[in-house]
Amino acid sequence: MNKSTTVTDAVMSRRSIRAFSDKPVPLSVLQQVMETARWTPSGCNFQPWEGAILTGEPLKQLQAKMAVSPPQDPKEYSWSDPEVLPECLARLHQVGADMYAAMNIERGDKAARGDFMAQNTVSFGAPAVLLVYFPRVMGAPQWSDVGMWLQTIMLLLREQGLDSCPQEFLSIHARLIKDFLGVSDESHIFFCGIAIGYRDEEDPVNGFDRKREPLESKVQFLGFEYDIAMNVTDAVNSRRSVRAYQDKPVDPAVLRRVLETAQRSPSGGNTQPWNAVVLTGDPLQKLLGKVAEVIPQGLAAYSPEYNIYPPELDGAYQERRFGIGEAMYAALEIPREDKASRLKWFARNFQAFGAPVLMLVHTPRYMGSPQWSDIGMWLQTVMLLLREEGLDSCAQEAWAVYSKQIRECVDIPDDHIFFCGLAIGWGDREQAVNTFPVPRAPLDEAVRWEGF
Ligand SMILES: Cc1cc2nc3c(=O)[nH]c(=O)nc-3n(C[C@H](O)[C@H](O)[C@H](O)COP(=O)(O)O)c2cc1C
Repeated sequence: MNKSTTVTDAVMSRRSIRAFSDKPVPLSVLQQVMETARWTPSGCNFQPWEGAILTGEPLKQLQAKMAVSPPQDPKEYSWSDPEVLPECLARLHQVGADMYAAMNIERGDKAARGDFMAQNTVSFGAPAVLLVYFPRVMGAPQWSDVGMWLQTIMLLLREQGLDSCPQEFLSIHARLIKDFLGVSDESHIFFCGIAIGYRDEEDPVNGFDRKREPLESKVQFLGFEYDIAMNVTDAVNSRRSVRAYQDKPVDPAVLRRVLETAQRSPSGGNTQPWNAVVLTGDPLQKLLGKVAEVIPQGLAAYSPEYNIYPPELDGAYQERRFGIGEAMYAALEIPREDKASRLKWFARNFQAFGAPVLMLVHTPRYMGSPQWSDIGMWLQTVMLLLREEGLDSCAQEAWAVYSKQIRECVDIPDDHIFFCGLAIGWGDREQAVNTFPVPRAPLDEAVRWEGF
């Protein structure tokens, strides 16, 4: 098993290993792990943990003694409370069932199951074992501290390419172990062993699927509003055209970071045909005011520099175009007949839907369709990177109809064509206009597969 290079890697690649290779564990590696694990937190910095690590002859001697000794009576402590929750019991049975199934051991085969359990005594062939004990006076919180220490050790072991298995089982020989180590039974309780070594990659007992309860059933998140998309899939799935924003400014440094990164977008011949002006504050208000003056003139004030939709648009394309409008107005509860309200809503395009930032996109007029596609790639890159910052956006071709007013407020070269706006801000994701479902065609309508 490779070394874990990140904490996530270490957490995800750690599993309780129940078959080890006989490769020895270097002392210096163990010393380094144990040295670092001293920095585990503990309540009041008690550091209640104590232990001994055995390998070679001493380990063999201890294991030989355990092999011929019956379990101690009374128990050192109870592994699980007698009234353990039924769902916990079910999980315990599940892990047993999965493990024995991986080894092809039948449920009824008590002998084979017993033999496997007995492997605990030799720590599943691990070349080293950490034996963990601490003063009896320690209470439940200190047991938790010891738990933190043990998980720290197990993760640090992963960083070294090493594996482990925590073994409460060894507590059936607690007194024998303490006696062997010269630890007082009166003052100290023995907790568990940690088998340490390199996993046997081939053994099926190390390969069965492990289960964990879903996060929602275990952890509540209260009071959070801010979210970011931590990977591309999240960003794609959480992006939607957001048409209502919070009254909250956007950090210019964040915008700069996003746009800087988006410069890495691909473009045919690396032409990078995108150009933009980013507005906020007064310059944005000036533009919104200018356009607000002409909105009452209706179509008479329109001066689009290109056809927003091809005149031939029909069939499924036309249906989709009307579909999004219908879905949005339905969410806003504005009926089809209420033209005035629909127009009023449409006019919110020209307040950038309340976003504090508006980016205006333009490109040289001679650029052809492929370069417009490049601009699209860049825009989607910007929109996804904004999601990674927790920000929302809405691409707005609607602005094209007021290119004259835009040119009056913003310096866009005459030989450039104005394409669209991009509203940017912190979405008010609770609003109905930001929650209605926006469907997509089934994949097979768009993509054909051949030769797979
Ligand atoms: C280039 C471009 C221009 C757009 N222009 C507008 C616009 O002017 N006003 C608007 O409300 N939505 C606009 N949209 C948003 C689309 O309606 C939206 O992307 C589509 O319905 C899919 O919904 P989603 O973005 O919420 O997934 C535009 C989208 C793109 C890509």
